[in-house]
Amino acid sequence: MADFLIAPSILSADFARLGEEVDKVLKSGADVVHFDVMDNHYVPNLTIGPLICEALRKHGVTADIDVHLMVKPVDRIIPDFARAGATYITFHPEASEHVDRSLQLIKEQGCKCGLVFNPATPLDILEYVMDKVDLILLMSVNPGFGGQSFIPSALVKLRQARKMIDNSGRDIRLEIDGGVKVNNIREIAEAGADMFVAGSAIFGAAKDSDANTYDSVIADMRSELAKA
Ligand code: DX5
Ligand code: ZN
Repeated sequence: MADFLIAPSILSADFARLGEEVDKVLKSGADVVHFDVMDNHYVPNLTIGPLICEALRKHGVTADIDVHLMVKPVDRIIPDFARAGATYITFHPEASEHVDRSLQLIKEQGCKCGLVFNPATPLDILEYVMDKVDLILLMSVNPGFGGQSFIPSALVKLRQARKMIDNSGRDIRLEIDGGVKVNNIREIAEAGADMFVAGSAIFGAAKDSDANTYDSVIADMRSELAKA
């Protein structure tokens, strides 16, 4: 079985108790904290910045933090997130004037780097930077909000990206973001993803039950992944 990583998006967490929410989701078996940064410019929403990332580190979070930048421009904010404790920093190629330079900047700051592709953005650009990326993130919704439905064409693109990664022979993660649920995670894995962002599916789960924990939804995702 492939080594699958589950990355809850804290966009759907209770921000008034963020430290507790992150502790709880990691204790429930999540692998990575997915951290959505929105600027009300590149995307029509505004979320969290480096201060919150740093606050999570100070709170004691040692898991990898996967910073998904939905901001334009990107370069100015990269060193701030590196200092704040980001593990991965990814950005959308449309948001950077110099994609190769932004990738290098992330690496120079000691983080792993990746590119994010919107549903209608082609993967062509990857051909020229395959030797630099540690992570490829495919959006299966248009970025900006949690709780949207998975766009099925992302499965076709996942297969395409999986082929490119395998042909490169490099160790590159293939992450999917948007509308991932227990009932579709298996086919997403079968299309080639090995890192799964899920916001509303995970943080919404506890609100619906008395258990107030995320164990069961993460366990259900893992058992679906085990069948892939
Ligand atoms: C959307 C964000 C996602 C979002 C996913 O722009 O990048 O990470 O939180 O939320 P769900 O899993 O609810 O679709
Ligand atoms: Zn995201």
